[in-house]
Amino acid sequence: MATRLVIDGGSPLRGEVQVSAAKNAALPALCAALLTSEPVILDNVPGLADVATTRLLLERLGAEISSDRGGGTEVRVGRLTSHEAPYELVSTMRASVLVLGPLLARAGVARVALPGGCAIGVRPIDQHLKGFQKLGADIAIQNGYVEARSSRLKGARITTDLVTVTGTENLMMAAVLAEGTTVLENAAREPEVADLARLLVAMGARIDGAGTERIEIQGVPEIGGARHRIIPDRIEAGTLLVAGAITGGDVTITGAAPRHLTATLAKLEECGATISVAGDRVRCQGRERPQAADVITSPFPGFPTDMQAQFMALLGLADGLSKITETIFENRFMHAAELNRMGARIETEGSTAVVRGVPAYQGAPVMATDLRASASLVLAGLAARGTTTVSRVYHLDRGYERLEVRLQSLGASIRRLR
Ligand code: EPU
Repeated sequence: MATRLVIDGGSPLRGEVQVSAAKNAALPALCAALLTSEPVILDNVPGLADVATTRLLLERLGAEISSDRGGGTEVRVGRLTSHEAPYELVSTMRASVLVLGPLLARAGVARVALPGGCAIGVRPIDQHLKGFQKLGADIAIQNGYVEARSSRLKGARITTDLVTVTGTENLMMAAVLAEGTTVLENAAREPEVADLARLLVAMGARIDGAGTERIEIQGVPEIGGARHRIIPDRIEAGTLLVAGAITGGDVTITGAAPRHLTATLAKLEECGATISVAGDRVRCQGRERPQAADVITSPFPGFPTDMQAQFMALLGLADGLSKITETIFENRFMHAAELNRMGARIETEGSTAVVRGVPAYQGAPVMATDLRASASLVLAGLAARGTTTVSRVYHLDRGYERLEVRLQSLGASIRRLR
């Protein structure tokens, strides 16, 4: 029998839990090590399946990865031994496309499997590729692979048609070693983009404006190693706070960056939770029943699509009707049908979900379909009457480090069956 999580719901979660480092900042930071032959040391890399996949990919490209004496992860790519990200890795993790920019910048050549659609949408990388072309690369699609080539890249003004997080990161990494100035307009403002820029600057890059919609990069001939501490995971933080709210409990997260959580915290308050922030600590006290609220996902600093599924679980128990609009991905409501199996009343049509709150969920066997969907099912299970079994837990392990252990520390009855 494959791994499952078994949850006996109904007890309010209480206590304190430390937030891990951000998955979506760790992945580009690891890939940035491809830009230099010197070691890049990352202090707090989370233990996630996606991190393991990235390590494997980097090792295939020539990286030596070890733990340094201070407990950091040291990545050294003395020499690139390959320039290819094979299909078997890209198909398990789309973020593998983040090697394209660094490989192109350092080696002048990259071959990366074209990611297909995935559980949450079509997710093309056309904006990444158009940007690389603006920087002077030749791009061809051959046999399911992107083949990118160039001599030294040349700085350019790039305006993406839409806001893309990994697109901004990929282009920023490529532009760091380009000749001249690159301006990225309509850039993603996510904290993970700013964190990557901080690492690149520590490595010797010249970048201004990361975290705003206009990023300016002055190319330099080469960059070196650096040591870097990755920002806290705002999505894990939000998920743990929702666990407090949905169980009518009292959860405090520590080591968080509250300024990255403003949209999530505002929405929790709208749902009736009491939020208090002190330094890097955020406390969430749930009430007996959440209040209804409408949610619209949008790029940072708007409400994150990566918290949409968790809020659907919360709003499913609200007193009243809520409307959730997903504007980032076209197919990110797969959890609705599973929540309905637990007694929720959710109807989806296109990019909108209408959630009619019910007084309680019932435990049920449910199946995770993607990373954040699996988190929403765990949250629903924590609040449900009876036992919930979540299968396909490998989706959860991609982006949450031992979530069940952290939830146990808050008093949840949750165990992993192998
Ligand atoms: N898009 C295009 N063309 C492109 C790039 C994006 O059409 O060239 C579209 C996408 O299909 C999507 C929208 O633009 O509809 C935004 O996609 P974006 O590129 O911003 O997403 P991403 O960079 O692939 C990152 C996170 C996701 C998170 C999104 C949105 C990483 C490794 N992944 O993906 O995280 O949902 O930004 O914030 O940073 C997760 O952690 O569960 C996760 C899916």
